[in-house]
Amino acid sequence: MTEAPVDIYTEPDGEPDTLANLGPLRALAGVWEGRKGADQHPVEDGTERDTFLERYDAQPIDFQTNGPQLFYGLRYHTHIVRPGEVAMFHDQVGYWLWEPATHTVVLTLAIPRGQVALAAGRCDADATAFEVTATRGATTYGIASNPFLDDNFTTTDFRMTVTANPDGTWSYQQNTRMRMPDRSAVFDHTDRNTLHLVAPPTPNPLALAQGLTASGGGPGEGSLTIGDLRSTAPVEEWQ
Ligand code: HEM
Repeated sequence: MTEAPVDIYTEPDGEPDTLANLGPLRALAGVWEGRKGADQHPVEDGTERDTFLERYDAQPIDFQTNGPQLFYGLRYHTHIVRPGEVAMFHDQVGYWLWEPATHTVVLTLAIPRGQVALAAGRCDADATAFEVTATRGATTYGIASNPFLDDNFTTTDFRMTVTANPDGTWSYQQNTRMRMPDRSAVFDHTDRNTLHLVAPPTPNPLALAQGLTASGGGPGEGSLTIGDLRSTAPVEEWQ
């Protein structure tokens, strides 16, 4: 349990330019694509492995306070399909939050299976890699599932590692561990991908209203200006 601050209502002043205050999350801001995703999920007779295509959109939001807590964040949506297919393979929405005062990264995660998770981890503001975790049963950083999933695909913990790569891409590896009635071992539902920038982020509303440029300086790049449409690597280079 965290110690209650004396004053839980007074809010700190936040900075209007979210992109300049995202700590390690700056590397994730923008619209991204990855074509070499790898998934391992449970099927009736064991394990299935697939490759997938992913489009990941992460846009800065205005700073958020909870009394004395101050977060800078990204609202994200990722959509995943199998190569050559239209049907959704996986979809996920949520927020990435950075709390500078405690060097904490928080991930809120919702998927259209009737399942949500809140994961967190700590790292330095200039970290190029970090990890967030969530555990079933925890009332703080936990996992909540609908009754069918909780009974049959009991998701015990979630772990995601993010790495900002020197070439400006970023990669993730995650493990959603689950217990199922048809097998004794815990199943590692794993996913990984590397995301390539296809469009820069749009500055948050407060930054736009104040006429600020997005000065957060992502990996390997100078400052972005509003409307910056820098060209990005052709698709062939992702292979
Ligand atoms: C890149 C990310 C992910 C991909 C591509 C993916 C894909 C899949 C696929 C293909 C299945 C097999 C079941 C089906 O076809 O309906 C599955 C099952 C499942 N996934 Fe994921 N998943 C991802 C991430 C996650 C995350 C983050 C969670 C939870 C935190 C999660 C929870 C589950 C659960 C509980 C099941 C078993 C439910 C069932 O089979 O009915 N998945 N996933």
